[in-house]
Order: sequence, then C-alpha cells, then structure tokens
Amino acid sequence: MNILNIGSLNLDHVYHLPHFLHLGETLHSTAYHRFPGGKGLNQSIALARAGATVTHAGAIGSDGALLRDTLLADHISVMPLLIHPAEPTGHAIIHVTPDGQNAILLHPGANHTLTTEHFHAFLAPLHPGDPLLLQNEISQLTPLLHLAHAAQLRVTLNPAPFTADLLDAPLHLLDTLILNEIEACQLARLPSDTAPHAALVTLRQQYPDTTLILTLGSQGLIASLPHETTPPLHIPAHPISRVVDTTAAGDTFTGYFLAERLRGTPFPDALRLANTAAALCCTQPGASPSIPRRADVLAALA
Ligand code: RIB
Repeated sequence: MNILNIGSLNLDHVYHLPHFLHLGETLHSTAYHRFPGGKGLNQSIALARAGATVTHAGAIGSDGALLRDTLLADHISVMPLLIHPAEPTGHAIIHVTPDGQNAILLHPGANHTLTTEHFHAFLAPLHPGDPLLLQNEISQLTPLLHLAHAAQLRVTLNPAPFTADLLDAPLHLLDTLILNEIEACQLARLPSDTAPHAALVTLRQQYPDTTLILTLGSQGLIASLPHETTPPLHIPAHPISRVVDTTAAGDTFTGYFLAERLRGTPFPDALRLANTAAALCCTQPGASPSIPRRADVLAALA
C-alpha cells in the first residue's frame, strides 16, 4: 500500500559547537555540514528505508534540487512536489554539542506556501482508508486535517514542532499521534515537568479514539491503543554505545512505526523495531543520511 506524506523539506546547516550559545556570545564552530532534512523529508526516507512505498508532497524553492534528488535516490515518488520560484527552500540552522544534543532554528520558506488548493490536488488520487502522514512544518495544517477527515483517510500526525494553534486543531480525528514528552505536555495543557504517564492519561481523555505514542529519548517510549484500559506499554530505549547526533531520531521512529504497521506488524513489535531504528539514527551525524536501513535495524534487534 502506498502512503502519502505531505511534509516539509529543509536544507539543514549543521554546526558543531563546544556548547550551546549563551546570550550575546560569539563562538567558532568546530565543524560545518549541509544535509538534506526537514521532518517531512526525513519521515519519508524512514518510511522508504523501512520498506514502504511512499509519495512525498510538498514545496521547495528553486534552490531545493538536492532535496528532490534525495527523495528520488530512495525511490520516493515526488510527482506532487511543487517548486516555488519566489521563496527560498525551507532551511534549518542546527547546533550540535559534543554529547550529541541539538538546538534548531527553522525558516519555513517554501514549506509555508502550501494552500488548500494544493491539498485538494494532493489528496485527489486517494481513497477512503488510505494512510496519510503529516507533521507541523507546513502551512494550513488545520484545514488539511479537515480535508483528510472528509476524505476518510487514516491520518498519522507528528505535531512537531509544537505551535499554539494545534490546541484548536481537530486532533481527535487522528488515527495515530506520535509526539515527544514536551509536546505531550503542551498538547495536554500541563506544566512541562509533568510525568509522561500523567500526560498520557490526559491525552487519552482528550483523544479516546487515537493511538498515542510518547517518545521519551533515553527513556524509550510509552504507548497506548484507543480505549485501552490496561497500563500503557513501556519500551526502554535500545542501548547504543555513543550518541553522535539525535537529529531525526523522532522522524526515524515515526517513519519506521508507520511502515511496520502498514506491513501488518503487531503494535508492540512495530514499536520495538521503530525504537531500535531511532536509536541507530543517533549513532550517525546529520538528519536523513543517518536514517538506517531495515536490514540493519533487524540485525541490531536480534
Ligand atoms: O527532526 C529533525 C528536522 O527538524 C531537521 O532535519 C530540521 O530540518 C528540522 O525540520
């Protein structure tokens, strides 16, 4: 089954720094790299490397050929990729510290030129029950969620990066919600230091019909199926010897989890495999280049 991902595409400018910048500080970076990235693109690559058939819809500027070629190299269909001549391609300034943590500044560029007219065209070939993947780096997400519901699509959303308008978005219509613990607290309107299990309880009340997955970084993940009365499933993080760069770990998880579910893998096994893929992503630098292939993930799991 083909999956449509309507998602962002970014050029990632990655700077390695001895520490995150302080207010007013000027610092030399120790290394600079440019990578293909964007949550949308990364998740399409993860889906493809996990074995799914993927179509990526989105928008780039005339400087975004690298991103189109990156998708094509992983056999992802880019038929609905728009080129916006007057906007720069979306880009990210990413700071990475020696312990592999990152901080990201985003400029949306062409990612924010998408309109409901574009969405009508992207969704036209789909049928009721078809899967659709979305993140929160494109424009007009709320109208898109309504259109997808009207078309009876099965929508998975990674609400990242979190923005306040998500609080009024029709997320109760989603099939699956995948988010980290900070986004979970924001969506549940809870203090940021709320325990993930408590945030999950609140989200379960908010979204009774939605599969909920909270990724917890080095603590692994917790997840629950709709209307489940048993305690949520906790899967610890897959052990790795060294964290090089956590960029795109969440994207890798999302793509892998969805690909596994589409191939019929049971819920706990799909979570475990995606969890392992996300850990392997942290052992390599960069966003999309660090996303592992399924054979390597299976080998690491074994
Ligand atoms: O999730 C990682 C991604 O977030 C990076 O590739 C960057 O482009 C930002 O969108």
